[in-house]
Amino acid sequence: MKIAIAGKGGVGKTTLAGILARSLVEEGYKVLAIDADPDANLGSALGFPQDLVEGITPLAQMTPLVEERTGAKKGTFGGVFKLNPKVDDLPDVYNVTHHGVKLLILGALPQAEGGCFCPENVLLKGLLHHILVKRDEVVIIDMEAGLEHLTRGSTRHVDAFLVVVEPGQRSIATAQQIRRLAQDLSVQKLYGVGNKVTSAEDRALIEEGLPEVEFLGHLSFNTNVIEADRRGISPYDLDGSIKEEAKEIIGRLWREEFA
Ligand SMILES: Nc1ncnc2c1ncn2[C@@H]1O[C@H](COP(=O)(O)OP(=O)(O)OP(=O)(O)O)[C@@H](O)[C@H]1O
Ligand SMILES: [Mg+2]
Repeated sequence: MKIAIAGKGGVGKTTLAGILARSLVEEGYKVLAIDADPDANLGSALGFPQDLVEGITPLAQMTPLVEERTGAKKGTFGGVFKLNPKVDDLPDVYNVTHHGVKLLILGALPQAEGGCFCPENVLLKGLLHHILVKRDEVVIIDMEAGLEHLTRGSTRHVDAFLVVVEPGQRSIATAQQIRRLAQDLSVQKLYGVGNKVTSAEDRALIEEGLPEVEFLGHLSFNTNVIEADRRGISPYDLDGSIKEEAKEIIGRLWREEFA
C-alpha cells in the first residue's frame, strides 16, 4: 500500500502522516515514511529524537551522492549523465529508524517532465519510482503544501491519495483543486481526511463541501497535538484518542482498498 498525503498548508498533513505511520507499525506492518517536504518535519511528528533527525541532509541535497549515482557534476550545463541511476540501495542506506518506522528524508519531489532536467531530479525520479513500485512496505509520503509538485511522476503508482481538510472554506477549496488535478493525473484513488474538527457540524461542513470525495474519517481538534509539537514529541505518544481515530482511518482505508 502506497499512500501520499496532500492538502493546503498547515491543515495537518505531517501530523496525519506521523500518526498513521506509528499506528501501522503498531498493527505489525513494515512502514517506510517519506518526507518529501523541503521544510522537513515529519521526524518530529513521528516522535524521532531531535538529534537523530537534525543532522540529516535530505537526499536531494547530497551532492556527492547525486554526482556519484548520475555521473554528473552539479551545476554543469549540457553534461552527459545517467538517466537510470542505481537507487535500490538508497532507502536502506539513508533511512533513520525509530519506534519501528523507517524515515527517508527526500527534501523534494521530482519536478514535472519539462521541468528541471538535472541530476538531482533524475535521481529523485528514479528513487521515487523504485520506492513506489518495488518496496514491499507500506509507504507514506508527506508532501509539501500546494499543487505544483503534484505531477504524474509523483502520483503514478500511489494507491491512495489522502487529501487533508480542516473545517473552513479555504482548505476545502484547495482540496477541490487537488481533486481536479488528481483526476487529470489519473491518480488511482483519492480520499478525504478531516482534521481539527470540533463537532458533527465541522464534519458535515467538510464532507458537504467536497461531495465527490469519499472520506476515511476525521481527526478531532486536540490540544495534545499542539502540546506534542511544543515538546517535540509525537502526538501518538501523548494521547490515546488520536490512536483510536488513526485506527479508524486505517481500517476504513484497508476495507476500501482490499475489499
Ligand atoms: N488535530 C489537531 N488538533 C490541534 N492542532 C493540530 C491538529 N492537527 C494539526 N495541528 C496543528 O496544526 C499545525 C500544522 O500541522 P502540520 O504541521 O501537521 O500541518 P501540515 O499540513 O503538515 O503543514 P505544512 O503545510 O506546513 O507542511 C501544527 O501546529 C499542529 O500542531
Ligand atoms: Mg507538513
